Amino acid sequence: MADLSVVFAGMHFPNPFMLASAPPTRTAEMIKRAFAAGWGGAVTKSIALDPAKDLQPRLQPLHHGKRKIGMENVELTTQLTVEEWQQEIADVKDAYPDRPLWASIMDAPVEGNWQRLAEAMSDAGADALELNVSCPHGMPSKGMGAFIGQDADLTGKVVSWVKKVAQVPVVVKLTPNVADIAFVAQAAMNNGADALCTVNTVSGLIGVDLDTLTPMPSIGGVSTYGGYSGPGIKPIALRCVAQIAKATDLPVSGLGGLNTWRDAVEFMAVGASTVQMCTAVMWQGYGIIENMVQGLNDYLETKGFGDLRPLIGAALPKIVEFPEMPLAPRVRASVDDTCNGCMLCITSCADGGFQAITGIKGEVVTIDGEMCDGCGLCAMVCPLGSITMVPR
Ligand SMILES: Cc1cc2nc3c(=O)[nH]c(=O)nc-3n(C[C@H](O)[C@H](O)[C@H](O)COP(=O)(O)O)c2cc1C
Repeated sequence: MADLSVVFAGMHFPNPFMLASAPPTRTAEMIKRAFAAGWGGAVTKSIALDPAKDLQPRLQPLHHGKRKIGMENVELTTQLTVEEWQQEIADVKDAYPDRPLWASIMDAPVEGNWQRLAEAMSDAGADALELNVSCPHGMPSKGMGAFIGQDADLTGKVVSWVKKVAQVPVVVKLTPNVADIAFVAQAAMNNGADALCTVNTVSGLIGVDLDTLTPMPSIGGVSTYGGYSGPGIKPIALRCVAQIAKATDLPVSGLGGLNTWRDAVEFMAVGASTVQMCTAVMWQGYGIIENMVQGLNDYLETKGFGDLRPLIGAALPKIVEFPEMPLAPRVRASVDDTCNGCMLCITSCADGGFQAITGIKGEVVTIDGEMCDGCGLCAMVCPLGSITMVPR
């Protein structure tokens, strides 16, 4: 077995897989079941001084064919009180003293509120505080969540308030719904953050019901902008993790669209040293941890890595700004004899490319290397993998 353990902001994790702050960490009983299944750590559902009353229903999936590719939610904070959460945290820590449990806290930008939450949670035994300054729906209208995280100065202020009283590491959960996440990350770092975490959900409007012309999820005939999560947001999340890992020297916990161990490897390659999951667990349950751990272990062994260190951040030096991208090597499309002449590439190249492919249905297509501009569209649409990009 490879060594999957990791030290994050001074905390020892048996493996890098954490449950994100979300429904799977709603109670101590749930978190303990997840730890029994093998999760390396967990972040509680976000705790505020005033527990929220939630809308019903509050989840809406997005399908591509029969597959779910994302989900929107309009859920708010925990429904438990601060005192109830103190008991829940103590209960989990009693049963699993060695498994990191972070308390997610959120409130309006009032110094005393954040400090009360921070003290209550670290007194109860939380190993770290995750500052939710990133929820995009419901909370911003009360000056909470992304209202704070979309303002670098305010984010820095909240971090400095919490740092004044915090006895445990402070992790700041950033929103992807900003023009420059690196700028906000630096404000958090400069005000004392011990670590960063991203992404929270992406602000979205998931769809409109064609029969009633009501946006979804329809609640009493109306809807609102919500938080989009799941596989569809992974590229946004990877980009955010890479940007904050490059812009700061803080440890990063990465999340957003993780579904398999392969996704975890990608997040770690762009700088995450722990990863978190929410939607995949809501859809498939805590048991997915087995495949995550096994897959990551097998990958490390195949690569000849004894532990996670050679993986974390390995791809970062290979991410450059656009003007630094090379104009060589130049490539063109090439087709092999597995092509069955389905014509998909011809249509795509004709209407979305450079009109470089011709052919007769059922026969191997012909690619004109001079007309081909090397964009890669044909290779993408070929259902058989018969087209590859080769050096010019
Ligand atoms: C129903 C639901 C409730 C959530 N509640 C919280 C929350 O209380 N605090 C928080 O920081 N993030 C919350 N999130 C965001 C997740 O922690 C996570 O950042 C986001 O869903 C992206 O990860 P995923 O694609 O693995 O779901 C919630 C997400 C969902 C779907």
